[in-house]
Amino acid sequence: MRSITFNNILELKTVDSTNSYLKKHISGLKTGTVVFSGEQTSGRGRMNRNWQGEKDKSVFCSFLLKEMYEPIDAVRITFLFSIAVRFLLLKYIPNSKIKLKWPNDVLCSGKKICGILSEHTGDSVISGIGLNVLNFDPEKEIEQPWTTVESESGSRPDIAGFKISLIECVNQVFERYCTTELSDIPSIWFREAGILNRRVSVVSGKESFSGKIRMTDSNGGLVITDERTGELRSIYTGDINYDDKL
Ligand code: BTN
Repeated sequence: MRSITFNNILELKTVDSTNSYLKKHISGLKTGTVVFSGEQTSGRGRMNRNWQGEKDKSVFCSFLLKEMYEPIDAVRITFLFSIAVRFLLLKYIPNSKIKLKWPNDVLCSGKKICGILSEHTGDSVISGIGLNVLNFDPEKEIEQPWTTVESESGSRPDIAGFKISLIECVNQVFERYCTTELSDIPSIWFREAGILNRRVSVVSGKESFSGKIRMTDSNGGLVITDERTGELRSIYTGDINYDDKL
């Protein structure tokens, strides 16, 4: 992987989406740019979902990795950001509560605390992170169970300090893996996630099945033994839910 340090920090008060902002301004921005916004008016998630948060209570930011990236790298880069977010959350929340969920979520006590959206554009990747930091009232009901750093830690982190720590954790993780091939990142994420043999329900396109997780492939797909047929199946889109309670 190319070595990269995120050191060009932009702060906006409001924007539609920090991912869309980087996409729009990409030609004038250098690799290693991070944009934060106090609020987002049209935050986007995976599979055309929306992403909610509240002004100055949530972190909304996007990271720009320019040039030399292929479409398949977006998911590999997502894995690096989720490792970094876990590392950050460990400063506030006990390890046993934090879980990485394929492909782009970080859960706390089984509830979503962070979502990551990586998008490939041209030969660049834009990775957006939404983190629920302080408790907030969503405008619309959030469909899946969710939580905040405040409610999991019992303290109210200072948002400015939290953002600085996030960048530090991201830079540490990218430095640690700068000599690693991007194709090896999924297996590193898999070990960090500790999900071997967990039983999951999968909804991928029109298909749904249950089975046990075996590994990730080098493209970031999740390899699962279908418990009905005994066959190994790789999934690249869709959602999983853990059926066992670990
Ligand atoms: C998901 O869980 O589906 C991904 C959510 C990603 C949300 C973040 S918030 C900052 C950045 N800007 C966006 O519009 N989305 C990402």
